[in-house]
Amino acid sequence: MKTLIINGSPRQNGDSMTLVNEITKHINGDIKIINTYFDSISPCIDCRYCWNNDGCLIDDEMQVVYKLLDEVDNIILASPLYFSELTGKLLDFASRLQYFFVLRCIRKDTKLKLKKKNAVLVITGGGDGSPQPAIDRANIIFRHINAELIGTILSLQTNEIPAKEDFKALSEARELALRLNELGNM
Ligand SMILES: Cc1cc2nc3c(=O)[nH]c(=O)nc-3n(C[C@H](O)[C@H](O)[C@H](O)COP(=O)(O)O)c2cc1C
Repeated sequence: MKTLIINGSPRQNGDSMTLVNEITKHINGDIKIINTYFDSISPCIDCRYCWNNDGCLIDDEMQVVYKLLDEVDNIILASPLYFSELTGKLLDFASRLQYFFVLRCIRKDTKLKLKKKNAVLVITGGGDGSPQPAIDRANIIFRHINAELIGTILSLQTNEIPAKEDFKALSEARELALRLNELGNM
């Protein structure tokens, strides 16, 4: 079983990664992590190369991700809330998934069908504001990459209780890891 983690937080040992690490502690198989703040992934510049050619012209780490998106069994998307949204770097990453939208809706390419995968969403927030805009955006990302959301882990008010002390969220992370293992064996 192969799992791709997309980390939208700049804090590599922060709240979001604490919950991701709890998942990875219990999940079987290979894991690859993309850190959107530190790996070289530029935003889409709407050059429209992909309207008439296969692939994306921007030669960066996203080329590896495009391949992985057709290989992995699971995707874990993690982000802190920034102004109730996914972080900007994660949205930069998401803009590169426009390639799949172009194939489907502009080039009407029926050959391309990305491998179906299971998805887990991890959202953390310092306050108790609404995470809904971030959840909505994550669902658009999952649609673009043929991923089915099997569970969301929310850890809010991390200013008061950091994720490492949020025992409900930690236990949800463990349970979802076990669920992914189960689905991987089916
Ligand atoms: C620029 C910025 C904007 C933020 N906006 C929100 C917000 O809208 N809602 C919220 O609950 N927390 C907000 N926070 C707090 C973070 O979401 C919170 O500290 C989170 O637990 C950090 O997760 P991390 O350690 O994985 O980066 C914001 C933090 C920053 C730096």
